[in-house]
Amino acid sequence: MIGWEGVHLHILARHLQDEDGSVKGVLAVLHDASYLDERINGRLARSAFSVLMVTLLVLTGVMTLTWTVYERPLHRLAEWMRRLRLEEAKDAPPPGLPIADLGTESDRLAASFRAARTKGRTEAHNVARTEKAWTRERLRAHALDCLAGAQLVAVSNREPYIHQFHNGERRAIVPASGLVTALDPVLQACGGLWVAHGAGDADRETTDRQGRLTVPPGDSRYTLRRVWLSREEQLGYYYGFSNEGLWPLCHLTHERPVFRASDWQEYIKANHRFADAVLQEIGSTSAFVLVQDYHLALVPQILKSSRPDLKVGLFWHIPWPNPEAFRICPWRAEILRGMLGADLVGFHLQQHCNNFLDTVDRMVQARLDWDHFALDLKKHTTHVRPFPISVQDWSERRVPSGDKLARQMGELRERHDLEGMQVIVGVDRIDYTKGLIERFRAVELFLTKYPQHRERVVFVQLGAPSRSHIRRYRELITELESLADEINWKFQTEDWKPIRFLVAHHDSQAVYAFLRMASVCLVSSLHDGMNLVAKEFVAAQEDGDGVLVLSEFAGAARELADAILINPYSTEEFADAIHRAMEMDLSERRVRMGGMRKIVTERNIYRWAADFLVKLSEVSDRTGKGDTSYETVAGKR
Ligand code: G6P
Repeated sequence: MIGWEGVHLHILARHLQDEDGSVKGVLAVLHDASYLDERINGRLARSAFSVLMVTLLVLTGVMTLTWTVYERPLHRLAEWMRRLRLEEAKDAPPPGLPIADLGTESDRLAASFRAARTKGRTEAHNVARTEKAWTRERLRAHALDCLAGAQLVAVSNREPYIHQFHNGERRAIVPASGLVTALDPVLQACGGLWVAHGAGDADRETTDRQGRLTVPPGDSRYTLRRVWLSREEQLGYYYGFSNEGLWPLCHLTHERPVFRASDWQEYIKANHRFADAVLQEIGSTSAFVLVQDYHLALVPQILKSSRPDLKVGLFWHIPWPNPEAFRICPWRAEILRGMLGADLVGFHLQQHCNNFLDTVDRMVQARLDWDHFALDLKKHTTHVRPFPISVQDWSERRVPSGDKLARQMGELRERHDLEGMQVIVGVDRIDYTKGLIERFRAVELFLTKYPQHRERVVFVQLGAPSRSHIRRYRELITELESLADEINWKFQTEDWKPIRFLVAHHDSQAVYAFLRMASVCLVSSLHDGMNLVAKEFVAAQEDGDGVLVLSEFAGAARELADAILINPYSTEEFADAIHRAMEMDLSERRVRMGGMRKIVTERNIYRWAADFLVKLSEVSDRTGKGDTSYETVAGKR
């Protein structure tokens, strides 16, 4: 083939020969092949055009699909969020969000947003309403108003005063319990009835035949009705289901919960026993019943099925975990239905309320109203709200002041070799949730890293033995004792030991004296609903000095942001925080403590109780009687 002036020619040439083979000429056939090029080029152009068109079509399709499936819903979501922020969004999040989780999350976001805003408004309203501080007298007047002639009844496992024999003598002690610390001042202010387990060996000797007595001993302000439990009931209901099952289930401390069917049966029986005592005491009168804590989850439902007219509130003093953690409980639905007998369920934190609603959403056929934090089960509505619990002022308790206090502190310093030392204090029930091992290790590292504090500082840990029929609790005491011993051995000199681990029941006078004496208080819970020791330390610092080192995993950390917040799992961070607390200058200490004292004084236990009672009377008026013919285990004995 040759190209000639842009034309492609095919040439076929042959010699023409005669018979003897001599060449006579040449035969040439010329064929113009240009049309082939044109055809090839034409085809190429058409193919390129088709590919382009198909690509364009596919792209348009993909873009339309993306817009319909993703972008448009996301735009709508953004617009809805904007309206939510500006308070214009009254409707639910837009439907058809591309990922189911996004829909659920935006639902929750809206609910939390509204809850936060409502809370903000309520708080603003409360601030206006509470320029006057909440006092015992103010709560009493307020409670009379709310109760409108009804009785106030509290029911809990732990009693506020335990009578025990001590060297043949009867004595009343106040147990180490955040619940008791918080509720006793409320009952003392308002009067009423407290139903609780009579756990002391001298308890029966101090009550009438119905198990009643008036308390506090020597200053009757309200009635305590004791409930007697058999040994089997205590083992199954209290030690077993409540404290080996629900306690580790609700606290995320990597302690494995134990669920035994026999414990569950005892739990049901014991819950009926407490509810029966309440019903017996109130007879046919109207009452506000404040059910307390995880030991009595079924009581609200039992009460309501006998007396739908009662106003029943449940306060859960410990955290509520996320649904994934809670679902391992074999009787999860029964527990939830028991709780939903209440008109109002209270937790310390909004986060615990969210977790609770999430849990109910996944485990019980109830209608959820995220906007109002309410749940409908069988025509009965339960409202869920945060009520961060608090303490009363130390001046209202029988604790020494002035010279008497100075003398007591002097005696304690002498008895425990603390003269001339700076004191770091910890006050806890001996419980694995309190992060005591972590605390001792942090003190060890603090002394290793910052040797300048040796022989100048002593760490005093007051430890009240707790739940000691459970092996894990007994073992913890032994473990802590040997750890304290090991650390003391490592650092001690002839006249100094760094740790005093005082295992005993300490009365409020001793606790107060140590809190006053200490420069620094350590609260290192691995997980805690609130932790009232943190607030008690702040309340005790009348001179406005002192530093609180506080675990970020205790509910109290939300309010006491002026503490040095730590992750107790990080020994380094914890040890450095102790160092920082010891080195902090006076002006910073005063600013921080001042801020925290303001919060603890304003949001005291009287305000907590007033808020709870107001909410309970509001919601139970709205709720009505509902259908209380529940068909759950709470009916079985
Ligand atoms: C926690 C619980 C309380 C309990 C307290 C002491 O604070 O929320 O309900 O009373 O621990 O425990 P104990 O088992 O001795 O009552």
